[in-house]
Amino acid sequence: MNEILVIKNLAKRYESKEIHKNVSFSLYQGETLGLLGPSGTGKSVLLRSLIGLEEIDQGEIQYRGQRIDNLSEKKLFAIRTKISYAFQSGALFDSISVFENVAYPLLEHTKLREHEIDSKVMEILKIVNMEEAREKMPSDLSGGMQKRVGLARAMALNPDILLYDEPTAGLDPVNVEMVLDVMEKAKARGCSGIFVTHDIHAAKKVCDRFIILKQGHVGFEGSWQDMEMSSDPFVQSFLLGQ
Ligand SMILES: Nc1ncnc2c1ncn2[C@@H]1O[C@H](COP(=O)(O)OP(=O)(O)O)[C@@H](O)[C@H]1O
Ligand SMILES: [Mg+2]
Repeated sequence: MNEILVIKNLAKRYESKEIHKNVSFSLYQGETLGLLGPSGTGKSVLLRSLIGLEEIDQGEIQYRGQRIDNLSEKKLFAIRTKISYAFQSGALFDSISVFENVAYPLLEHTKLREHEIDSKVMEILKIVNMEEAREKMPSDLSGGMQKRVGLARAMALNPDILLYDEPTAGLDPVNVEMVLDVMEKAKARGCSGIFVTHDIHAAKKVCDRFIILKQGHVGFEGSWQDMEMSSDPFVQSFLLGQ
């Protein structure tokens, strides 16, 4: 299998607080990797580090064989069209419509013409089942709808990799299924993914493989079956606690 993203010996601290001591793992082409771990173990920090929103202290991040942890802002800007981060909160711009939110990355990163942007945005809004809400403002939407628009915005540039930070947290079961369905559609379009979640049932549905962070390291790596069969007390208590 092809490694699309390689994380090697990553270390990250905030002042005296060590978040990651030595984290290494790979993301393979086409897979969805579940990134699990107790709250506060640095899952969001790790996702942000992957696209240079956090500076790492040690280690290396490679995207398709190219080192990306030491790039200039300008080069990072280009990388962020390939590796897209769907924020935990949805993080929509409040003062512009659903349509404009999804069009934003296209305006910022491409030279597409207006009608091309129009059809692209509508195509993506259709994937997340939000085409009818195109003129609405984010404040008119439920939390689940906002998350779906956030996903649409993250998908707008057809990224190679989508980083999902708790995309189903706080949603009702219907919206959870819709978000998982969107993730499956992104995968079918060839997108690899890292899925940070506390919802291991959701993770089981869409992830091919899992890692669990433990005190600054990767404490477990393997399939769902490996995880369930694991005799490691940490893995067992993590699963029981969910
Ligand atoms: N910008 C920051 N400055 C200082 N500490 C931070 C910052 N961002 C996150 N942290 C700390 O890093 C730890 C990991 O945070 P986070 O990645 O959000 O955890 P998780 O997503 O796994 O719940 C937490 O203890 C958090 O307080
Ligand atoms: Mg988090």
